[in-house]
Amino acid sequence: MQNKIILITGATGGIGKQTALALAKMGAQVIITGRSKPSGEAAAAEIKQASGNPKLDLLLGDLSAQANAYSLAEQFKARYERLDVLINNAGLAASERKLTEDGIESNFAMNVVAPFLLTHLLMDSLKASPSARVINLMGGDVPAKLDMDNLQSEHSFDGLNSYSQSKLAMMVTMYEFAQRAQGITINICYPGQASTNMTRSVTADMLPGFMRFMFPLFKLAVRDDGGKSAAKASRSSVYLASSPKVEGVSGEYFDTNSTLVSWPPAVLDATTREKLWSIVERLTRVEIK
Ligand SMILES: NC(=O)c1ccc[n+]([C@@H]2O[C@H](COP(=O)([O-])OP(=O)(O)OC[C@H]3O[C@@H](n4cnc5c(N)ncnc54)[C@H](OP(=O)(O)O)[C@@H]3O)[C@@H](O)[C@H]2O)c1
Repeated sequence: MQNKIILITGATGGIGKQTALALAKMGAQVIITGRSKPSGEAAAAEIKQASGNPKLDLLLGDLSAQANAYSLAEQFKARYERLDVLINNAGLAASERKLTEDGIESNFAMNVVAPFLLTHLLMDSLKASPSARVINLMGGDVPAKLDMDNLQSEHSFDGLNSYSQSKLAMMVTMYEFAQRAQGITINICYPGQASTNMTRSVTADMLPGFMRFMFPLFKLAVRDDGGKSAAKASRSSVYLASSPKVEGVSGEYFDTNSTLVSWPPAVLDATTREKLWSIVERLTRVEIK
């Protein structure tokens, strides 16, 4: 990975930080992103020190706002002539329904719109690489059906179900992107459950009623383990970013142990894909042929 340039969103903590560390250890030029300068600089220093690789850069921006995705892409392009791997790692599991500054429900904005927009804005940089890869991270629960009438929880917001629906919508969008994009690969992986800020901030009322009695067990499973489970969960992204076995492989879904998994029915449904694609294009005011 010595000559590879890799951009990882949400990599100042959690799974993204462990992914950055593993790829930095392989010698890649890694660019991490986050929202906060102090924690970003601390993470960058820690990864440099632990990997012994000084080629570690930091870009800042809250990706829930589209203006920041534009700014991040511009900053990247001003510093780097190409992008070999984009890992759309940053995600959100909101505990309540909130709108972003673009007026989009926050789970949908972070988990669907942000990866779509950033991939689009960095497309020229990706195409400048001889073999660019885009990697996206799925959540744990894969709903059988995409609720097209409640994509932004307009009618009901239901804790982790809203998160899972947004992750399924991301899958649908990225599968479609993979069919349209020429000369780059786009895949999705499931990292597995890890103890991170995201999982540690899940509250009992985000779980479906019948699962709430299991909340103490969930809390126990996601107690702070110093990044151990996040390091394990980084392995699927690291595999997709670095393995020669997936060179040229696109439009596929990989499990936490990097084995191929079948797509859920919603992803394979052309009508769902078409409808969702045009909704995301409208929300971003972007048109992709
Ligand atoms: N953890 C799990 O068990 C699990 C399971 C399945 C899938 N996933 C998926 O794996 C990915 C990483 O999850 P994680 O658990 O590591 O998440 P996390 O702990 O919430 O990730 C923290 C990172 O994301 C950044 N971040 C948070 N909100 C952001 C925003 N609005 N804009 C830009 N950056 C933002 C943080 O930066 P700042 O600190 O600067 O804000 C930090 O770098 C997500 O896509 C998640 O859905 C996680």
